[in-house]
Amino acid sequence: MKNEPAVNPDRLLQSVSDFAAIGATPAGGVNRQALSAEDRAARRLLAERALARGFTVFQDEAANLFIRHEGRDAAQPPLLIGSHLDSQPTGGRFDGALGTLSAFEVLEALADADVEIERAIEVVAFTNEEGSRFSPGCMGSMAFSGAANVADWQAARSTDDVLFADELRATLDALPEAEIRPAGHPISAFVELHIEQGPVLERENVPIGIVTGVQGTKWLEVAFSGEAAHAGTTPLEFRKDPMAAAAAAIARIQDGIMPSDPAARLTVGRISAEPGSVNVIPGRVSFTVDMRHPDAEALAAIERRVHEECLAAAKRWGCEAAIALRVDMPPGRFATAVTAAIAESCAALGIASRPMVSGAFHDALFVNRVAPSAMIFVPCRNGVSHNEAEFVSDEHIVTGARVLLGVALQLAS
Ligand code: GLV
Ligand code: MN
Ligand code: MN
Ligand code: MN
Repeated sequence: MKNEPAVNPDRLLQSVSDFAAIGATPAGGVNRQALSAEDRAARRLLAERALARGFTVFQDEAANLFIRHEGRDAAQPPLLIGSHLDSQPTGGRFDGALGTLSAFEVLEALADADVEIERAIEVVAFTNEEGSRFSPGCMGSMAFSGAANVADWQAARSTDDVLFADELRATLDALPEAEIRPAGHPISAFVELHIEQGPVLERENVPIGIVTGVQGTKWLEVAFSGEAAHAGTTPLEFRKDPMAAAAAAIARIQDGIMPSDPAARLTVGRISAEPGSVNVIPGRVSFTVDMRHPDAEALAAIERRVHEECLAAAKRWGCEAAIALRVDMPPGRFATAVTAAIAESCAALGIASRPMVSGAFHDALFVNRVAPSAMIFVPCRNGVSHNEAEFVSDEHIVTGARVLLGVALQLAS
C-alpha cells in the first residue's frame, strides 16, 4: 500500500450536488424516475467520470450499471458496493444517489492512493429501485439475484404509459461504450450505504446505523367496479358506487391495522377513479395498498385483513372487487460477516453506531440472497424521505463514506 486511502470530502459533496442537478425540481428535490431521460443522464455522468478515471464500465441486461476497479487477483469474485440513482417523482437528492456516489468516492480514494487490493471492487447503480414509474421496485437487484427475470417485465407500462421494453432498450443504448452482460455475476459480498429515511439515528444522535435486516413489504392493487351513473338523478338504492366502497375500505383498514400494532405500516398512496368527472358516480376505482411488517406472519395477517375489509366494503356498495398482489418481499436478515465488518470500521474510526432494522426495502434485500450483504445508514433530517425536503448534513455524508471505505478495505484486501 503506497498511501493511506482517504475520502475526499470536497469531491464527494460536489458529486452529490452535481447529480442533484439532474432532474432537479424547483423545491430542491429530484424527479429522476427509473429509465427516464433524467435517469439516463445520471448514468451517463457516472459512466463518464468512471471512464475518465480509467475504471471499466459495463451494464447487464437489466441495465444495472457497474464500475470496476481491478484487484490483484482477477479470478476472485469482486466486492460489490453501491445503491441506485432513480428517484421518486418528488424524491430527495440523497435516496439512492448518496450510496452510489459514496461507493464511487471509495473507488476514487483507492485510485488516488494507488492502493493494491486483493479482489476487484465494483460499484453498482441498480435499475428501478423505487418502483414508482414501473412496478415492482428493486427490479435491477431482483434480476441480478435471480429473484426475477427482465423478460417478466417487458410488457409492463409506466405511470406515464410507456413500455418497459422500450425504456430499457433506450437506457442500455444510451451507454454504447458499456458492454451488456447477462444479469447476475458472482460477487463476494455487497455493502449498500443509504440514508435512514426514518427518525431514529437523528433522535439518538448516532451517526451510523448498522442495518441487520429489512422488514417485509407487500403491495396490493385493489379495483372496485360498480356502475357509472348520473350524480344528480341516481337515488341511493340504485347506486353501485366504487368510490364509496373505496372510501369505506380505506377508512376501515387505516383505523383497524396500525392503531392496534405499532410495528405495522399501511399506506394507500395512489387512487384513481374512472371516468373521473365531478358529476358522475365512478364506474371503477382502483387504489394501491403498501403494507409493511418485520414479522412475516403478522404481514400475512394484515394482508388477509385488507382483503376482508375490501370484500366487505365492495359488497356493501354493490360492487365487484378484484385484488391483486403486486409485490411480495419477505423480511430479510443481513449477513453477520458484513455487519461485523461495518461495526469494525466504525470502531476503527471512533464513530458511534447502533444496529437497526430497515423500514424501507432496498436492493441489498435481494442481493443478500446470493451473497452476504448488509447496509450502512446515515441520519437524515427529521427522518423525512420520499420528499423533496430530504436532507443529510455534509458531516454525515462524509462520515458514511469513510465507514464505507473502511469496510471496502476490509472485505477486498
Ligand atoms: C423503497 O423506496 C421503499 O418503498 O421502501
Ligand atoms: Mn433508496
Ligand atoms: Mn426510495
Ligand atoms: Mn427505497
